[in-house]
Amino acid sequence: MLTTINEVKRKFDVEEIRNDFPILKRLVNGKPLVYLDNAATSQKPQAVIDALTQYYTFDNANIHRGLYFLSELATEQYETARLKVKELINALSASEIIFVRGTTEAINLVASSLCRAKHFKDGDEVIISNMEHHANIVPWQLMSDRKQIKMKVIPISDSGELDLEAYEKMITEKTKLVSVVHISNSLGTINPVKKIIEIAHSHDVPVLLDGAQAVPHFKVDVQDLNADFYAFSGHKVFGPTGIGVLYGKTEWLEIMPPYQGGGDMIRTVTFEKTTFDDLPRKFEAGTPNIAGGIGLGAAIDYINQFDRNELVAHENKLLDYATEKLSHVEGLRIIGTAKEKASVVSFVIEGIHPYDIGTIIDTDGIAIRTGHHCTQPLMARFNVPATARASFVFYNTKEEIDKLILGIQKVKKMFI
Ligand code: ALA
Repeated sequence: MLTTINEVKRKFDVEEIRNDFPILKRLVNGKPLVYLDNAATSQKPQAVIDALTQYYTFDNANIHRGLYFLSELATEQYETARLKVKELINALSASEIIFVRGTTEAINLVASSLCRAKHFKDGDEVIISNMEHHANIVPWQLMSDRKQIKMKVIPISDSGELDLEAYEKMITEKTKLVSVVHISNSLGTINPVKKIIEIAHSHDVPVLLDGAQAVPHFKVDVQDLNADFYAFSGHKVFGPTGIGVLYGKTEWLEIMPPYQGGGDMIRTVTFEKTTFDDLPRKFEAGTPNIAGGIGLGAAIDYINQFDRNELVAHENKLLDYATEKLSHVEGLRIIGTAKEKASVVSFVIEGIHPYDIGTIIDTDGIAIRTGHHCTQPLMARFNVPATARASFVFYNTKEEIDKLILGIQKVKKMFI
């Protein structure tokens, strides 16, 4: 008999939610912490901290290796976390979920493994964009000792939107991969990735998406997007550091050789030859980040309590509020004004270095990121050495944005 479960979601109440994140109660320089650097890493709810404590306190054992109670328990928890990731991004199968250290490792894995699979010939092309994180630039350059891969760069407009016409014209018979960011960490631009994938697929070119900034903000569905590869990090999605995910379609992962060799990824080993385990184990050499995987599972459970549309609506309100308030600050210029944006606002203020902004407002307990945000070619495009960047998630409030504005006014007074 089929039963329908109407899952009751937890009501969105920002003050109540803030109580779930112990760090949000701490003081910095004697002031309540105003944490606006969520694009760098998000804070962790108590449920995630508890999952890590539970594992290390009571459940710690190595996985896939022991026929005793604790090993089986740890294995079950780790593999359950994989299933939760599969559900989170709607992969077809849990074997398409590879646990890695983070987005950076995921992209390095694809670059290295596709090279070793002889997917690229010398002179072949990978299309990236002008708003890529260094994690989607440097891995392709590192491959130059194996294959001369040419990077072609999709240009962006002054508002920080991809030029799709230019993109389509760039694709040639030498194009072997399109690898672009879903949401820009520096600009907040939400790229039209479904369209990008459609165009690439019409030329039989696979697509890798860097989803590090997207998964924390909204529901990602890799099957609906029809992405070939999708990468994201646990620590930006309210989970622990050192754990991340590479999703890959089975048809691709099957033809790719392992990225690293060692324990847990083999079927048989002799001195002459090794045969590899099935997916996903083929890509997970050595003892993995077991606690990290379990903690990520707890973070997914935490997010799943809510109707994610309510979280998105709150973040959009914060984005609109911050954009409006910042645009009234004289001399302040927002870098990244795309129509489709996530809750990330980068800005520069005439005559004041972003580092000074960040350092001075820190004295009031306000944490924002200042610098090039690992996107130096993007900074060059906008002709700025760095920006100040405030990034919000669902536990942030308008009052925190007011404090940011007051902090900026204080900085301006000091420099006038
Ligand atoms: N990529 C992270 C950021 O944008 C670290 O801050």
